[in-house]
Amino acid sequence: MSLLEAEHVKAYYRVREGFVKAVDDVSLHLDRGVIMGLAGESGCGKSTLVNTLMLNIRPPLYLIDGRITLDGNLLSKMDKQTLKKKVWGVLVSIVPQSALNALMPTQKIIDLIKDIVHAHTDISDSEIVSMSRRRFEELNLPVEALNMYPHELSGGMRQRAVIAISTLLNPKLLIVDEPTSALDVSTQKQVLKLLVDLRKAKIIESMIFVTHDIAVLRQIADRIAIMYAGKIVESASTDDILYNSKHPYTYGLINAVVTPEPEVRKRGLISIPGEPPNLLKPPSGCRFHPRCPYAMDICRREEPPLVEVGEGWTVACHLVASGRR
Ligand SMILES: Nc1ncnc2c1ncn2[C@@H]1O[C@H](COP(=O)(O)OP(=O)(O)OP(=O)(O)O)[C@@H](O)[C@H]1O
Ligand code: SF4
Ligand SMILES: [Mg+2]
Repeated sequence: MSLLEAEHVKAYYRVREGFVKAVDDVSLHLDRGVIMGLAGESGCGKSTLVNTLMLNIRPPLYLIDGRITLDGNLLSKMDKQTLKKKVWGVLVSIVPQSALNALMPTQKIIDLIKDIVHAHTDISDSEIVSMSRRRFEELNLPVEALNMYPHELSGGMRQRAVIAISTLLNPKLLIVDEPTSALDVSTQKQVLKLLVDLRKAKIIESMIFVTHDIAVLRQIADRIAIMYAGKIVESASTDDILYNSKHPYTYGLINAVVTPEPEVRKRGLISIPGEPPNLLKPPSGCRFHPRCPYAMDICRREEPPLVEVGEGWTVACHLVASGRR
């Protein structure tokens, strides 16, 4: 049964020259208990999409169209007050892309927690302190960290503290936006373990994990959605995305990661020739056509329909729609 349903969501940035179509007709659903990875090149709209899914948007970003339901609540029609009281932190939490930089240097971790919890509930300070201690113990995080300032913690510990704080009220859905990108491999592992533990302990039900790094998704995600230029082009189980992908962009992306040359691997997604398009004026038809080695006439003219090619496996490509892949 699905926890999150998004239908035909469009979210655009209004700029002087027009609209940056960062999320353009995205539909997705997330089942209960599932960790979904969201991957794609820099600037394809991942952060915009996940923030839009929880209505965490402000000008110049606007929700232009679409319907978003979370745990039976129609978020896309809720006002900010209701979202603050009933949704954010309680039903869904996000660890934003820049979370580590955004921590106030003069605020101890425990005071940060108090601020966050007070925004949603009337729980007393002493109750918040004991809740936080219990939670840190449950997750094998050092309780002393609660009384420290962010700069006193290592990068990995800081990230784990932020994640623990974000999930203190047991939100059903946790969104983490590039949580491991700034960390070395062994610290990454600790953060991934914490995320998996949150689900195991039933503190959260489902998760959306945003990253450039397909190798990380292989370790943690049940499903992967691939985004290109404001759209989801393929969505399937992690194995199907990694080993049987049908969209030319997806396999370009995977090949870029599994290539044996370390230099190319380091550059990761960039090794697909060409540049992602400007989302102020995206290409006609299939947005990937200027870079796609298989592009046909129809690709330049018509947007490919999203076709279901297997259970829970959708692809938007004319090759697939016409049965040629
Ligand atoms: N405040 C803004 N005003 C105008 N355009 C914006 C704004 N913020 C982001 N954009 C544009 O929206 C598009 C999507 O950006 P977004 O940050 O969602 O991408 P991303 O996939 O998260 O990238 P990254 O992997 O680098 O984090 C980009 O083209 C970006 O330039
Ligand atoms: S629709 Fe055409 S251009 Fe787009 S990915 Fe498929 S083959 Fe390539
Ligand atoms: Mg981002």
